[in-house]
This record gives sequence, C-alpha cells and structure tokens, in this order.
Amino acid sequence: MADSKKIYPRTGDMQTVYLKNVITNPNIEVGDYTMYNDFLNDPTRFEKNNVLYHYPINHDKLIIGKFCSIACGAKFLFNSANHTLASLSTYPFPLFFEEWGLDKKNVAKSWDNKGNIIIGNDVWIGFEAVILAGVTIGDGAIIGARAVVTKDVPPYTIVGGVPAKPIKKRFDEDVISDLLCIEWWDWPNEKIARNIAAIQSGCIKELMEG
Ligand SMILES: CC(C)(COP(=O)(O)OP(=O)(O)OC[C@H]1O[C@@H](n2cnc3c(N)ncnc32)[C@H](O)[C@@H]1OP(=O)(O)O)[C@@H](O)C(=O)NCCC(=O)NCCS
Repeated sequence: MADSKKIYPRTGDMQTVYLKNVITNPNIEVGDYTMYNDFLNDPTRFEKNNVLYHYPINHDKLIIGKFCSIACGAKFLFNSANHTLASLSTYPFPLFFEEWGLDKKNVAKSWDNKGNIIIGNDVWIGFEAVILAGVTIGDGAIIGARAVVTKDVPPYTIVGGVPAKPIKKRFDEDVISDLLCIEWWDWPNEKIARNIAAIQSGCIKELMEG
C-alpha cells in the first residue's frame, strides 16, 4: 500500500520525492503524496531552489495540497521579490539600512506584501512555471509549462502563458462540481486504491459510486 512517509516513492528514482518529507520550513505546508521531480538539481533541495524570496520576516506561507504534481524547475516567488511600487523609487533603501542610516526594523518596507501562495489538491504545475505571491490555485488546476501565474486560478482550469490566462476548463461544470464535492484526495488510502481505475477512466459516474 502507498506510504506517504517515504521520501523516494519510486525504487531507484532519486529525482522524484514526496515533497512533504523534505520540507523543514514551518512556513511551508505540503499535503500527502504531492510529488516533485527534478532532473537538474537535487529534489530534496526544493525549499532552497524553488521557494524564492521567502524570508521569515514576512511570515508568508506556501501551502500545497495533496496529490499535486510539481514539475522540474517550478518556482514560487514570495513577497520579498516585490520591490515596493508605493515608493518613488524601486531601489530597496530599507534593505541597505546600514548604508543609509535607516532603522533596521523597517527593512520589510523594501517590498510590497501580497500574501501567501496557496495551491489546492491534485494540481499539476508544469515545467519551469512561476507562481507569484498572493496567488491561490484551485483543486485540479493545471499550470502550463513556463507559465507565469499572477492571478488566482479557479479549480479544474488549465492556464498558460505570460501572464497565465485560462486556456480551457478540464471538465463540464457539473463534473467539476461533483469532483469538488467528492474530494477523493481525502479518502482513506484503501478507498483511493480501490478507485484508481475509476479515477483513471475519466468517468465521474464510476467514481461517484466509489
Ligand atoms: C497546458 C497543457 C497541459 C495544455 O495541454 P492541452 O490541453 O493538450 O493543450 P493544447 O496543446 O490542446 O493547446 C491548447 C491551447 O493552449 C496553448 N498552450 C498549450 N500549452 C501552453 C503553455 N504551456 N503556455 C501557453 N499556451 C499554451 C496552445 O498553444 C493552444 O493554443 P490555441 O488554442 O490558441 O491554439 C500543456 O500544453 C503543458 O504546458 N503541459 C505541461 C508539460 C510539462 O511541463 N510537463 C512537465 C513534466 S510533468
């Protein structure tokens, strides 16, 4: 039976990890079975290589649901990346407080704080996609390769491009609403295992019969 506590779920594959088990930062939460694949860098270094500008001073969070698939090089750009636009200059003077005789406690005034990044369940994030601070991505969404996601993505919507725009819905609205109602990702392992054929079939009726 599947074991969400493993780091490497595939024998002999050191490029694919269950992300939850390599996260140490308390401001990053990842659900069971969400996987990350990296064939360029060590996937266990996800926090360092993929979650960027994420400084504890902001208390901003990255929350990722269960059963997501995150492709190589996807990046999550947090608030400290956003040089403030409220200022007449984008130069981060407060960051260089020693240089300019400023108060260290105002260092976070260098950037605008747009909030947390929240990713639902069963989301597929494509190769080298970039998700910006403040974005929420709904359950079942797909983020195309190299998309730059600047706005929220509704459930079961495919987005792509720079900035990412909806390409299409994955299913009819009634199927989407059934899937959001079923929330199969919260089922016990045994029930998921029993229903994999139904999930794979693309037939919601089969899954509803569970
Ligand atoms: C987004 C994606 C899932 C769409 O797949 P699809 O539904 O089969 O899409 P199609 O090929 O039918 O393309 C539909 C439209 O979206 C556009 N499109 C597809 N992928 C796109 C992308 N990544 N960025 C921008 N536009 C994209 C196509 O050009 C097409 O546009 P048109 O309608 O104007 O002609 C796929 O193209 C993709 O990016 N997959 C990610 C692959 C990846 O990164 N894998 C990593 C390993 S897991």
